[in-house]
Amino acid sequence: MTDLTTLEADVLAQVAAAGDLAALDAVRVAALGKTGSISGLLKTLGSMSPEERKERGAAINVLRDRVQTALNDKKAALEAAALDARLASETLDLTLPAPHRRRGSVHPTMQTMDEMIAIFAEMGFAVAEGPDIEDDFHNFTALNFPPKHPAREMHDTFFFNTKEDGERMLLRTHTSPVQVRTMVSQKPPIRIIAPGRTYRVDNDATHTPVFHQVEGLVIDKGIHMGHLKWTLETFLARFFETDVVTTQFRPHHFPFTEPSAEMDVQCDRSGGEIKIGQGTSWLEILGCGMVHPNVLRACGIDPDEYQGFAFGMGVDRLGMLKYGMPDLRDMWASDSRWLSHYGFSAFAAPNAASGLS
Ligand code: DAH
Repeated sequence: MTDLTTLEADVLAQVAAAGDLAALDAVRVAALGKTGSISGLLKTLGSMSPEERKERGAAINVLRDRVQTALNDKKAALEAAALDARLASETLDLTLPAPHRRRGSVHPTMQTMDEMIAIFAEMGFAVAEGPDIEDDFHNFTALNFPPKHPAREMHDTFFFNTKEDGERMLLRTHTSPVQVRTMVSQKPPIRIIAPGRTYRVDNDATHTPVFHQVEGLVIDKGIHMGHLKWTLETFLARFFETDVVTTQFRPHHFPFTEPSAEMDVQCDRSGGEIKIGQGTSWLEILGCGMVHPNVLRACGIDPDEYQGFAFGMGVDRLGMLKYGMPDLRDMWASDSRWLSHYGFSAFAAPNAASGLS
């Protein structure tokens, strides 16, 4: 038996000396692996007499179990030591002050847009979108702007270079082309708003080359100006968070509506601040009207069967009014002090149930 005792002492010494899990596994393979020293002993049993085999086999099994137990214990000890070392090296000093990072905020125009969408969505309007790069048909012709009509010039359009086929693409001057795209692709009844970016060659205290509009369109049977007025007054009261707003229509001209109007809202300008829903002044707030029969026809809708109203409003302007920002140019100056003062938390998305702003 001395060979077994020597082997056991030898393997156990190797187990004790293994400094990490890889070394320990090498010891295991060398002893208990297919060609390991202890497995090799088991292979010699075949050439023995039955009595010899019984005795020798039992002794080898005892040896194997002892080695296996020593391996298991050592493995557990090495794993515990590795975990302790990791915990010791990964300590965090929670008493250190957290680093101050400037948080991003939602721009007031985007906040205003989200508020408008939340209100109209609750009133049953779907949100429609269209491309910023438009063609003449959708931006002008289908909206009843006759060729060479001065109204086209009034839009101060950004044009792209003329293409080989003679077509000249443009940056949409208003969100009204989305009306056309919607009427061409959907059957009435239609009830949509189209929020988005719009572009004009214009830059002064009250105009920026890029601005934002929300367009509205309702097409159904028997629609009239009364529906338009109720829709807009309901929207404005919710948007400005007042019980009532008083509005007035002023006659106006838009090629795509007949009759056309601008809507003013009653306000108070005393004290250098504009307050909506009270007072003796009027403030122009949006353009609107009944969809012109030529526009319906251009989009394949029979004006004798369907009528509709449309409106368009400037989002930046409405945001300035609601949140008291005095100068349009500050809105896009990317001044981080302005943004952190007027910006909104990204976690407070406006919705009709929990409040707008
Ligand atoms: N598209 C007009 C503009 O940008 C705004 C507008 C006015 C839209 C009246 C409408 C409307 O849908 O009915 O000046």
